Amino acid sequence: MNNSPVPTELSGCAEKLIRDRHATRAFRPEPVPADTLRAIFSLAGAAPSNSNAQPWQVEVVSGAARDRLAEALRSAHAAQRISADFPYSEDMYSDVHQARRAAFGAELYGALGIGPDDHAARAAYDAESLRFYGAPHAAFLFVTGDGGARLAADVGAYMQTLLLAMTAYGVDSCPQGLLSFHADTVRAELGVTEGKLLVGVSFGYADETAPVNRITTERAALEATTTFHA
Ligand SMILES: Cc1cc2nc3c(=O)[nH]c(=O)nc-3n(C[C@H](O)[C@H](O)[C@H](O)COP(=O)(O)O)c2cc1C
Repeated sequence: MNNSPVPTELSGCAEKLIRDRHATRAFRPEPVPADTLRAIFSLAGAAPSNSNAQPWQVEVVSGAARDRLAEALRSAHAAQRISADFPYSEDMYSDVHQARRAAFGAELYGALGIGPDDHAARAAYDAESLRFYGAPHAAFLFVTGDGGARLAADVGAYMQTLLLAMTAYGVDSCPQGLLSFHADTVRAELGVTEGKLLVGVSFGYADETAPVNRITTERAALEATTTFHA
């Protein structure tokens, strides 16, 4: 007996939207039109949050502001001026997480032709990624209020809503945790006075000729992450 759910128009759209979104790491320079930007960020604002507090502040850079920030990030990185509002440690990952990260790293750096032990080339690629992978725009997602875990979770929900809104409007993206390691630089360049920087999202139109944009990422089996209790 076939127990598959009957697809609806909406489930078909959702399957396509959610499965078509993927991280893009090489962009063409053409900007996204201003009215498309407004449509995307308006849609992203429909994200859910605890008690509808909407604890996000979003800073979008394009054009000269984008170029200035990329340069400031490059300088901060070169001078090792690191400032992360949210603590980071490799120890936060479990063994199972580390195995998944290693599989992803092998796929990514393999597509770039960078060997597993070539730490210098990996570091150079990471430094270059601070130029937003060539994307003409980047959005910086700040957590307002006390910036605690519950509010950060709301901003995580905003981030995914934003990524899906971009996909729906034909815009490609890459969430970049690495950008959050330079929170003070972003704040100073953009004159931001409130909030903790959770993540940056580079976005624009993918360079379809770049091999790095053809990598695929696997997901754990449903049973490995989800239990149905009855
Ligand atoms: C919060 C967050 C931070 C991320 N940080 C980075 C990053 O710094 N650099 C990068 O290239 N990709 C980054 N990614 C993209 C992930 O590597 C990617 O989402 C994951 O490998 C799954 O691949 P997919 O998005 O193509 O499905 C980040 C993703 C998320 C959600």
